[in-house]
Amino acid sequence: MIFALETSCDDTCAAVITSAGEVRANVISSQGVHDRYGGVVPEIASRHHLELIGRVVDQALRMAAISLDGVDLVAVTQGPGLVAALLVGVATAKAIAAPFELPLAPVDHLHGHIAASFLAPFPFEPPFLSLIASGGHTLLAHVVDHGPRPRLLGQTLDDAAGEAFDKGARLLGLGYPGGPALERLARGGDPAAFRFPTAARLEGLDFSFAGLKTALLYRVRELGDEETARRRADLAASYQDAIVESLAIRVERALAQTGIGRLSIGGGVAANGPLRRRLGELGVELDVPPPALCTDNAAMIASAARFVEPLPYPEYLTLEVYASGERLLAA
Ligand code: KG4
Ligand code: ZN
Repeated sequence: MIFALETSCDDTCAAVITSAGEVRANVISSQGVHDRYGGVVPEIASRHHLELIGRVVDQALRMAAISLDGVDLVAVTQGPGLVAALLVGVATAKAIAAPFELPLAPVDHLHGHIAASFLAPFPFEPPFLSLIASGGHTLLAHVVDHGPRPRLLGQTLDDAAGEAFDKGARLLGLGYPGGPALERLARGGDPAAFRFPTAARLEGLDFSFAGLKTALLYRVRELGDEETARRRADLAASYQDAIVESLAIRVERALAQTGIGRLSIGGGVAANGPLRRRLGELGVELDVPPPALCTDNAAMIASAARFVEPLPYPEYLTLEVYASGERLLAA
């Protein structure tokens, strides 16, 4: 049994999976305290992880009907993410693994998102293209094997796709996280009502969302409060459509460029219905993990841990966290 923790951002997560990738428990405790700030406050996130982690660990073990003696490997997100938040997960993982002298697998968060596709009952086998779009990252990778070194094909030059959703949602007066709220609002709107930029002129496989967010800001100012309020659904639908198109354009380019006919998507934005539909129409084999495995969770970290060289006891006691995505991307 693999026991995993994920605390890189604002979700406190623990999971238990078998070595074959069957999920026995996947506990996600969303903090829900960052709404009033319109984003995640690192110090608050860290303090809440501390408060929640004990209960989340217990709950995962109870759901999987095992005790810690039944665990063979402990896994934890080492980075990238908020340092103070990651530290809670890593310290807890050490404290769980060390008394039993268990091995500990440090996992890269992005490898985790990709590895959500490797879970049972329908593991998606490499090679494939992977689009990871979350609040912190937006990248396209060629997943050559199950390991922690996918080939990076493109990444965002400024905001992440989830950040574009969150910032757009804030401009339209919606709460945090903005993605799901914006998607809901957009259901009653016309995606063709406004034209927003997709950075299609930017060649290659990199993404850019900063111009889009600015375009919405100017459009909202131009319309004024009353007209903006009246056309909120149209604005949301058009803005969402631009994000979806922007992602889809790069995916199409990558599929054409590599000749790979298989695609997986992950990260919080992969929970977006219109994106799933748009990519489903590309005519390639598409793997979309269920929403609970797309947003941050520990089952994906446990899944990735199966393909990482674990550190033996007591080597991991000095393990440190890292904030930025360079490790994976330096591949
Ligand atoms: O992967 P994730 O849970 O955490 C990070 O690693 O960032 O992704 C969170 C991001 C947020 O920006 C959130 O607004 C976005 O994913 N998101 C969505 C949807 N659900 C979550 N964006 C669009 N549509 C959704 N349904
Ligand atoms: Zn994530």
